[in-house]
Amino acid sequence: MKIRKIKRWMLFVPFVCGILSCSQKEVSLGDLEVIPLPNEVSLLNDGSSFVIDESTTICYPEGNEKMKRNAEFLASYIRQITATEVRLSADTERGDNVIVLSLDNTLSNDEGYELSVSQKQISLKGKTEAGVFYGIQTLHKAMPVTDGTTLAAIPCGSIKDYPRFGYRGFMVDVGRHFFSVDYLKEIIDMLALHNINYFHWHLTEDQGWRIEIKKYPKLTEIGSKRKGTIKERGSKELDSIPVSGYYTQEEAKEIVRYAAERYITVIPEIDMPGHMLAALASYPELGCTGGPYEVATNFGVFRNVLCGGNEKTLQFAKDVINEIMDIFPSPYIHIGGDECPKYHWKTCAKCQKKIRELGLKASKEHTKENQLQAWFMGEVEKEIHKRGREMMAWDEILAGNPAKSTIVMAWTTPEARLKAIENGYRTIVSPIQYLYFSNAKFNQLRGLSSIERVYSFEPVPDGATPEQAKNIVGAQACIWTEWTKDSVKMEWQMMPRIAALAEIQWSEPENKNIQDFLKRLKHQLEMYKVYGYNYKEDIHEALDK
Ligand code: ACM
Ligand code: ZN
Repeated sequence: MKIRKIKRWMLFVPFVCGILSCSQKEVSLGDLEVIPLPNEVSLLNDGSSFVIDESTTICYPEGNEKMKRNAEFLASYIRQITATEVRLSADTERGDNVIVLSLDNTLSNDEGYELSVSQKQISLKGKTEAGVFYGIQTLHKAMPVTDGTTLAAIPCGSIKDYPRFGYRGFMVDVGRHFFSVDYLKEIIDMLALHNINYFHWHLTEDQGWRIEIKKYPKLTEIGSKRKGTIKERGSKELDSIPVSGYYTQEEAKEIVRYAAERYITVIPEIDMPGHMLAALASYPELGCTGGPYEVATNFGVFRNVLCGGNEKTLQFAKDVINEIMDIFPSPYIHIGGDECPKYHWKTCAKCQKKIRELGLKASKEHTKENQLQAWFMGEVEKEIHKRGREMMAWDEILAGNPAKSTIVMAWTTPEARLKAIENGYRTIVSPIQYLYFSNAKFNQLRGLSSIERVYSFEPVPDGATPEQAKNIVGAQACIWTEWTKDSVKMEWQMMPRIAALAEIQWSEPENKNIQDFLKRLKHQLEMYKVYGYNYKEDIHEALDK
């Protein structure tokens, strides 16, 4: 049973300054009821609070660099949200007016934390530094926004919290449009604010190859550039605005480091054997027909894919994945597998020869060509396993009967989601109908409907047995950037749907309540304002109705 005694938002409730000896300022009171909703919140509800002022000190264990960084994050959040400069101390001495960060290995969940707020002290314990970081994110959001004319206070009470899912992901496609390293860092900060712990970086597309691969320099010399983009959906007319850009390996490592400091793992995706036109334009010998090919200027699913029967192609895939594993320490490497038409494979001499060599036979469920894709991806998976990593792929991989070690990212249909877990695959759910924030059909950017839609999503499908339900390891939202050219559109799509996502990923389902969520959302929007994140302003009107 979860205990939840929660009080409504009490923003900017003024208290008479006489209760404060150190300052003549009034205080503004925040709330522990943040997004995502902590799983157990218990409030004293007696009006008492911990007041943050310039003599507040954040204490962390001496000699623990991660805890020191955690303390610095908290100090910077306090500065940004409340305009108050607090102190830091590696001293374990406990006095009054302190926020004490510590580790406690008796806690059960690696990402869990316990928070206790009294008038004199805030104690925040995590089993790991990551757990402490999530507690810090809760404090970050529990503070009222103030410009320093009032002091921020946090109501007395306690929280025991832990995530529902170990995998809480967000994907950004940089293939269709390129986003700078600095902007990706901002996105990573947005993810951290929402307790997300995996940044899935979709690095290659028909419209652009975005990561430096030293063994294949033409991938970026040729594959990272296109001459223009269609003007609108369905149009054949190009805008003649060149699009280009890629990340050097050093820049990618910088992103990995930046994310790791925020307890976020970067999962790289090299999408194969489909969505490879940019690679084919760079190395035409990797295709079934030999080309010529050009980096795509329009969108959709293309018939030209990597040749599944060419030894050179498999070597290319292995080489690329090995360089990727040199850059990214992630335990998971995503190799796509989605939307790979077998049009050329059916008549390609090399593909058909390989099918014969492997003795692949069509069955009711799996065509020969789908099995060839599964074999190809299985060979790449062996390369991934050699280095102790695991392979992720989109759910089309199920068409080819992949190895049980594959982690399936289920995006297409509820049936695919169910099939993945019934067949024992660890599964991350990212359904197009709920969690593709860039999909205009399901996401009205104005109003509340798409926020409610995201919030209504339950990752465990109806009909799953408790054993099958355990195969759902997490949930993820995606932004595909065909029609997302800049940060404003990116954020309109993210904010505030990502807040609803956070609650799906983190909070226990029995604690979910849309009306309650929408009330808490007002403060989240206030935080977006502080950080300059763009969202459609009409939401305020909709929330006030
Ligand atoms: C996908 O949306 N093609 C994974
Ligand atoms: Zn072929």
